[in-house]
Amino acid sequence: MAAEELITGQIVTVKRDEGDVIVWRTTAGQVVACDSRCPHQWAHLGNSGAVDGEEIVCLSHFWRFDREGTGSKLSASGRRDEKSPIDTFEIREVAGRLEIAVPD
Ligand code: FES
Repeated sequence: MAAEELITGQIVTVKRDEGDVIVWRTTAGQVVACDSRCPHQWAHLGNSGAVDGEEIVCLSHFWRFDREGTGSKLSASGRRDEKSPIDTFEIREVAGRLEIAVPD
């Protein structure tokens, strides 16, 4: 996909037989590629995810993942509890297009 088509806060699903990947752009403009399935209860982040700053949040139970895939959940008091990580993939822009390095 064209890099400029991915706007801030947008989440795009890349369909694959081996499992979908999602690509999203953080508020700061960084592009991230990660597994589409939340490691908690397998919600599809392309349908039930939202970008919040530099993280993507699973709206099913509010686990959140940073650009490196580190998982956490914020309590009502602001405490951040560690959660399972999500797989992330190398992504780069080549001649205006985004290329994802996903293992087979
Ligand atoms: S399925 Fe994602 S937080 Fe529960």
